[in-house]
Amino acid sequence: MRNIPFVDLKAGFAPIKAEVMKAIEDTLTGMNLNIGPNCRALEDEFAAFCGTRYAVGVGSGTEALQFSLLAAEVKAGDEVITAPHTFFATAEAIACIGAVPVFADIDPATYTIDPGAIEQKITSRTRAIIPIHMYGQCADMERINDIARRHGITVIEDACQAHGALYQGRKSGSLGAAGCFSFYFTKNLGAYGEGGIVTTDDAALAEKMRLYRNHGHTSKYAHEVIGYNGRLDEIQAAILRIRLKLLDDYNRRRRERADWYRERLSGLPVTLPEEAAGRHHVYHLYVIRTGERDRLMEFLTGRGIGTGIHYRNPVHLQKAVAHLGYKKGDIPAAEQACEEILSLPMYPELSSDDCAYVADSVREFFERQENS
Ligand SMILES: Cc1ncc(COP(=O)(O)O)c(C=O)c1O
Repeated sequence: MRNIPFVDLKAGFAPIKAEVMKAIEDTLTGMNLNIGPNCRALEDEFAAFCGTRYAVGVGSGTEALQFSLLAAEVKAGDEVITAPHTFFATAEAIACIGAVPVFADIDPATYTIDPGAIEQKITSRTRAIIPIHMYGQCADMERINDIARRHGITVIEDACQAHGALYQGRKSGSLGAAGCFSFYFTKNLGAYGEGGIVTTDDAALAEKMRLYRNHGHTSKYAHEVIGYNGRLDEIQAAILRIRLKLLDDYNRRRRERADWYRERLSGLPVTLPEEAAGRHHVYHLYVIRTGERDRLMEFLTGRGIGTGIHYRNPVHLQKAVAHLGYKKGDIPAAEQACEEILSLPMYPELSSDDCAYVADSVREFFERQENS
């Protein structure tokens, strides 16, 4: 039996090992570790990659969201609209600065926030919208930006799963007031530890985020605002600069694997990922959908195939946000998705044989269902 992991970090590391080890050695030889030359260079390179004027390296995607909200002057008690179909950190970042997450439903075809649902949630206290570019596909930014403009609301992209994704030819991270990215090691652009970055065209926002990530320091002994220890680690920045050069190729290979899956899975009773018109999906995750999810997952585990669920419980029904008063049935499309989604192995090094084995195993599962 094969063993196909859900992600294979070792396979990604092997071809760049010598370069990464040298970068770590050089960084430690230089010992310029506090927002050092690699952090600054990565900021310039990542801003250029996204087509924005600035990028600010931070400690994680969660901090990227938090500092963007603070820099946009979202205050305690303000409402921030987002989707509950996301990793918990999106809502957590809102709550951690004292603002109130307000959940709007998703478009079940793309798993991204439904602009029509946003409109219904806007109140006089709404200060920001955080659309999530879920699984590697951008949210419907044209409609979201239009709503935001009409209501004078800031849009902050949660692009933590979508490095290099395009919307109408423009990169994620360049589509709102600020774009937040995670460099968690499984991401399309991952560090070998933690990291994050915020992109923006707004000089004032970038300047404020630089304050928040570094204790509000304006000079060595002067603190202008209460900030955080939220800097991007210099060793991670050195590693990320190597991997950023490969990101387009990583994404091309992810799309190629998505094509392989599509070819082999079409005709089966599963819903395959949909790439909406004008969007370029970078398949951070390859998520299929079926009412038989849990049994299929178990079957694939028995075939040596790693799978995941992103995510099993919608954020609005988590105990941590029970005080917000949501109940089952309030956000139906997101709730339904959580019951049916299954993420298949997806990484640039996944071989075509392994892809075929995964798809054939899915087919076998449904054939057995039919015959039983
Ligand atoms: C959609 C989304 N938002 C936010 C985050 C938080 O990023 P990090 O884990 O780097 O804090 C993640 C990553 O896990 C994510 O997938």
